[in-house]
Amino acid sequence: MATNRTFTMLKPDAVEKGHIGAILEKIIASGFKIVAMKLTQMSKADAQTFYAIHNERPFFGELVAYMTRGPIVAAVLEKDNAVEDFRTLIGSTNPADAAEGTIRKLFAASMGENAVHGSDSDENAAIESAFHFSGREMF
Ligand code: RTP
Ligand code: MG
Repeated sequence: MATNRTFTMLKPDAVEKGHIGAILEKIIASGFKIVAMKLTQMSKADAQTFYAIHNERPFFGELVAYMTRGPIVAAVLEKDNAVEDFRTLIGSTNPADAAEGTIRKLFAASMGENAVHGSDSDENAAIESAFHFSGREMF
């Protein structure tokens, strides 16, 4: 996959609160093009695999319960410098530390329930996109 792409999920809290439209509007207005997107729900095994890097952390059980409790919007986004620019757009993991105007500042409730995921490297963007989408679903 091209390195000008990143992967995102609008997490269950954002979907539950009806924020899909507002968040997508902000993403598009920030210059990202949607090249794949779907409403889906992760199984426990999906979330354990997706966040496997955190499986020794004390919050892992909570993270898996949160990420599987309802539907998410998964999407692949394209823009120059996509991974870094998207992390800037979403803000810090803890919304209390997130910059004004960032998606987490606007829509996240807490460190644990922080509305949106963004890949942290080009390599992980490719792995995470392939986890959720087949080649035929990415444009
Ligand atoms: P993400 O992977 O979802 O984009 O978030 P991130 O890079 O900003 O943060 P990361 O360290 O990768 O953590 C993954 C997700 O785990 C939950 N978390 N909870 N209660 C806690 O201390 C805690 N720490 C992390 C969050 O949902 C975080 O986004
Ligand atoms: Mg992360």
